[in-house]
Amino acid sequence: MTRADMQALPAPRRIGGLTALAGVIGWPVAHSRSPLMHNFWLAQYGIDGAYVPLPVRPGAFDVAVRGLQAAGFHGTNVTIPHKEAAFRIVDRLDRSARRSGSVNTLVFAPDGAIEGYSTDGDGFVANVEAHGIAVTGGRALLLGAGGAARAIAASLLDRGVAVTIANRTAARAHELADAMRADAEAGAMVDVAPWDGLGTVLPGCDMLVNTTSVGMHGGPPGDLPIDLALATPALVVCDIVYVPRQTALLRTAAARGLRCVDGLGMLIHQARLGFRKWFGTDPVIGAEVEALLDADLRGEGS
Ligand code: ATR
Repeated sequence: MTRADMQALPAPRRIGGLTALAGVIGWPVAHSRSPLMHNFWLAQYGIDGAYVPLPVRPGAFDVAVRGLQAAGFHGTNVTIPHKEAAFRIVDRLDRSARRSGSVNTLVFAPDGAIEGYSTDGDGFVANVEAHGIAVTGGRALLLGAGGAARAIAASLLDRGVAVTIANRTAARAHELADAMRADAEAGAMVDVAPWDGLGTVLPGCDMLVNTTSVGMHGGPPGDLPIDLALATPALVVCDIVYVPRQTALLRTAAARGLRCVDGLGMLIHQARLGFRKWFGTDPVIGAEVEALLDADLRGEGS
């Protein structure tokens, strides 16, 4: 092969002994947009790093994490179904993780400890704030009582927002409210509303947050049992679903002139802390990364 032939070849991506490694552990994990996002930031900032998908079966989580730590990874994100296992494996739990009962970001610290963080709740709040909406005081109506609801409830309560939880299965709403109340700082600012009585509580709310899978591409059929005609004009309507970006809930809200926050920004903002911890740079969240993810997700029904 001549020198000219060599120059015509695409330059390989250089991964060497000093390359900082991180990834996302999940099962399945192929659909995750985290590799796209982190590798975009790595390229944007010219950082010698790589972020890979790590498909790990249920039951193999602990051995995988210990192996990645032994192999020199700086840490990982953790997604379904391993967030609770991640909570159990860590040596040092950040307050965010303690409050949400799960971990989505592992950091392998220089002293050998595994640190655990939950960035979903703060990612949600940061995204709302990035839309120019202050998250302080007032009342939020939170639909759903799964892991995402718990992380978001904790972050809202931390900012002095009272939270009303409503869930199709009422027992789970009460469990979540009890978990929040057990935290002295959150105190009495949590209550539960019946799933079939949302019309009574909505007029008193400043924010509505859907954390259920209703509205998601491939999710359950039907609509949320909520009539936005009862909302005050100041209501902010948030959906953490991001495929599609404009859910039926957000479409109805926008048609009523209500301010809307879709779920894509939360996906981006929750990634920020891990990137900073593993790669040493705080990524500025700009329009480029949002456009990149938006274009990638459009193939999936949005
Ligand atoms: P995650 O941890 O990602 O938040 P999850 O624990 O599976 O996910 O929670 C999904 C949420 O969507 C739950 O609040 C669930 O309500 P139930 O607790 O009653 O199952 C809610 N959800 C799912 N399908 C729903 C539907 N058809 N109508 C209303 N809520 C639904």
